[in-house]
Amino acid sequence: MIEQAAEQPSELRFRKIEPRDLDDVLEIEQEAFPEPWTRGMFCQEISSAMSHFFVALVDDVLVGYVGFWQVADEAHITSVTVRKEYRGRGYGRALTNFIVQAAAREGLTRATLEVRVTNTVAQNLYKSLGFEKTGIRKSYYKKTNEDAIIMARKLDACVYEPEHAKS
Ligand SMILES: CC(C)(COP(=O)(O)OP(=O)(O)OC[C@H]1O[C@@H](n2cnc3c(N)ncnc32)[C@H](O)[C@@H]1OP(=O)(O)O)[C@@H](O)C(=O)NCCC(=O)NCCS
Repeated sequence: MIEQAAEQPSELRFRKIEPRDLDDVLEIEQEAFPEPWTRGMFCQEISSAMSHFFVALVDDVLVGYVGFWQVADEAHITSVTVRKEYRGRGYGRALTNFIVQAAAREGLTRATLEVRVTNTVAQNLYKSLGFEKTGIRKSYYKKTNEDAIIMARKLDACVYEPEHAKS
């Protein structure tokens, strides 16, 4: 099913990740992260009942992907990634907004994520969307021995009511 979230560039469309997406996703993943996920890890996102994982498309180009794990009443955001040549155009914001809305639609009350201490671009993005720093995980990223900042925000179910349902 194709979905479109509020507050996103109009040409951006989302659908659940499928096996046919894996080559594109792996290409983006490998250029985006020093410790990229493997094909097997993405396959698990497709098959796991706790995972909600989506690709973002502009026309037929896969420009990014985003996902969360549902753990009790929390959404643990596992990835927000935009293809390099599509960054700086509002897609990262749109992906994050989309996943926050998707988690809220599931009735989840809080979203958390980890971000590298050096990744100020992503930290700026998350801060601007209401995420706050809640802690540090020391040496979370093994290859670079880098710490992770834990960020979290509450999810507000009311935001996702259709326009006509608002008073
Ligand atoms: C982080 C990432 C998803 C942002 O995607 P993007 O499409 O470039 O982001 P947007 O264009 O929507 O910008 C959103 C916000 O990010 C921040 N940002 C974007 N580019 C930035 C830059 N070059 N410098 C500083 N902040 C920047 C700003 O806060 C920006 O908001 P603004 O435009 O109102 O200033 C993208 O850089 C990416 O895929 N990086 C590699 C993977 C990654 O690190 N993911 C996050 C893991 S936790």
